[in-house]
Amino acid sequence: MRVEDFILKNYNSGIESGLVKWESPSNIALVKYWGKKENQIPENPSISFTLSNCKTITELTFTKKQNKEFSFDVYFEGDKNEAFKPKIQTFFDRIEAYMPFLRDYHFKIETSNTFPHSSGIASSASGMSALSLCLMSIERLLSEEKVSDEVFNQKASFLARLGSGSACRSIEGELVIWGENESFPDGSDLYGVKYTDDIHPNFKNYQDTILLVDKGEKQVSSTVGHKLMYGHPFAKQRFTQAHDNLGKLKTILASGNLDEFIKIVESEALTLHAMMMTSMPYFILMKPNTLQIINKIWAYREKTNSKICFTLDAGANVHVLYPEVEKENILEFINNELVSYCENGHYICDQIGFGANQIEI
Ligand code: PMV
Repeated sequence: MRVEDFILKNYNSGIESGLVKWESPSNIALVKYWGKKENQIPENPSISFTLSNCKTITELTFTKKQNKEFSFDVYFEGDKNEAFKPKIQTFFDRIEAYMPFLRDYHFKIETSNTFPHSSGIASSASGMSALSLCLMSIERLLSEEKVSDEVFNQKASFLARLGSGSACRSIEGELVIWGENESFPDGSDLYGVKYTDDIHPNFKNYQDTILLVDKGEKQVSSTVGHKLMYGHPFAKQRFTQAHDNLGKLKTILASGNLDEFIKIVESEALTLHAMMMTSMPYFILMKPNTLQIINKIWAYREKTNSKICFTLDAGANVHVLYPEVEKENILEFINNELVSYCENGHYICDQIGFGANQIEI
């Protein structure tokens, strides 16, 4: 699909009002997206596990109006929220060309997360994907053409990307690729693509326990973070490395070789942070407790031969990844040895998931 193919051409805005609702998960990247070109085009391909329990639930009510200004209200966990409005306004500005009906309606956006507010977990991926799916459901109601579920998901992912890059990987599961690359010819810079190659049973119900080391606001927003890759001294090598790692991961996902999986995943996490430490200005987003946890995970792996590993996003929290067969042992290890490094002892148990769901109302 090309950009032009996402423009809605024929629609009937005769419908006066309606209500749609979706729940959409967060995702955790294995090969990280860090650096973008104009129009939210990634500098390198990425791949993620879709999560299951960390979700945003969004209800969108639309009512026909006369004037042609954008008009919307946002409610977060029941309360009117002004803080989210600028981000949604920017999102509407970016997607208007593809959804011309946006100015015909007033929207009431009611949203909530299953994970605690200010947990340090970014809700942009789940939030932007849930909102995009709601808008797609409205488009489906107004459109004069029938669209397949495949095209529906593709456009939802295309829109979500314009809200927050990594959000394009939250529409489907269990793994999603985003970005053109040599290993997956279907990969696109415009939207995420469901991973359809072989996945070894070792990865079935793969676990992700998120250790909340720092629940505060992100020190570096991803908008600022991606910009740090402009003129970064190691940018070119990093983008090449991401392509290589994606190719290696394809082989690993098919073979189930968890030792090799660990190498790629941990190296990607540390490279992401290394990019931040070597940019200008530079940042250290890990906290002392992040390093304590990493060292404990390495010691546990050495001692027990476990296939536990970690990944990080652009913050201090640690995603602990492991096969389902190790669940009991690793939760015991987390409770005994890692909880003390978490803010207020908090962590969230999640696992690989299957993507967003429409909620009937
Ligand atoms: O989607 P953004 O612009 O918030 O960027 C997310 C970047 C990382 O979470 C650090 C990596 C990734 O691929 O999700």
